[in-house]
Amino acid sequence: MNYFERMKEKYDKLKDKKDVLILSVESSCDETSVAVVKNGRIVLSNIIATQIEIHRRFGGVVPEVASRNHITAISNIFDEALRAANITKDDIDAVAVTYGAGLVGALLVGVNFAKSLAYALDVPLIAVSHVHGHIAANYISHESLTPPFLCLMVSGGHTAILEIKDYNEFKLLGTTVDDAVGEAFDKVARVLGLPYPGGPEIDKLAKVGENKYKFVVSNSMKDTFNFSFSGIKTAVVNFVHNKTQKGEEINKADVARSFEEYVTEELTTKAVKACRYVGSKKLVVAGGVGANAKLKEKLSNACEAGGVAFYAPVLRYCTDNAAMIGSAAYYMMKSGLGLSDLTLTGKPNVELGRVYETKNN
Ligand code: KG4
Ligand code: ZN
Repeated sequence: MNYFERMKEKYDKLKDKKDVLILSVESSCDETSVAVVKNGRIVLSNIIATQIEIHRRFGGVVPEVASRNHITAISNIFDEALRAANITKDDIDAVAVTYGAGLVGALLVGVNFAKSLAYALDVPLIAVSHVHGHIAANYISHESLTPPFLCLMVSGGHTAILEIKDYNEFKLLGTTVDDAVGEAFDKVARVLGLPYPGGPEIDKLAKVGENKYKFVVSNSMKDTFNFSFSGIKTAVVNFVHNKTQKGEEINKADVARSFEEYVTEELTTKAVKACRYVGSKKLVVAGGVGANAKLKEKLSNACEAGGVAFYAPVLRYCTDNAAMIGSAAYYMMKSGLGLSDLTLTGKPNVELGRVYETKNN
């Protein structure tokens, strides 16, 4: 029996094990995280070392700097995750890791760590898509949430509407044709002179601003479930530059509020329309921009009006973390998906509707 066959046998046995502890690793961008998740829903530990302060002085994530800091952090974060979960290495049933999408150099640190660990412990290695993890963040936040549901995926790398038919079966209904919504938040924040990451800064500032500016944006995506955010981004950037060149004052809070109003309205309208289209009675938001207060308020109100239940991850599981990867991995294991051999590597892009990769070379 070769290595993969042996792992496959172990993997299949896990399906019937009463308590399954998955050690999960996430390093796709600027957060190094290791978690221990029991049975896909119970987070025993979720340790995150953020590099935000390091990248702030550059105004965004510098890939090479991110990789180096992941390398420095990962062993300690792993030790801490075991300690906080009150388990030893021998209690780990499987190791899960984000293999993409993300920064390749950053991903490689987590992937190589996870591969070595799985090999040393002689346990199965599970390759998880980052987007799949963001969706699963809702399972650890809401005990009773089960598929099917509709998902609005809003992060720094993705913006999409997905029909989640089952734990591992997704259908892409729409996506952005240009920028991800998180990118637009970060860019607008940057032009307003706010620190990285811009999303939370816009969120805060918009709360004290007025929706005064009507940015003119052509909306060619109107009758689809697709999005385009480059138009609004450019409109805001041009507006700020014009005012600055003329030496005119701008009220940053009003700009932030007006921008936020536009994008949150766009996301809400399409998400609710998609719920009606597929006949879903549950709407789930996922990804970093899901932390946005205005977006959650709008989605929640629109869902209430339409008789749809609304779910958002608790704040700490909204942005990047390893617990969400452990949750996704558990349900992949239950269906026998995602088992990987040791040739696994990081991938910059992963198809949105594709949730697993089984590798056996
Ligand atoms: O999901 P995430 O942590 O990483 C990716 O997978 O991309 O998302 C990061 C994005 C960034 O663009 C960040 O500015 C945005 O989520 N974000 C927010 C908020 N918190 C994070 N955007 C708007 N409002 C927030 N409160
Ligand atoms: Zn993410």
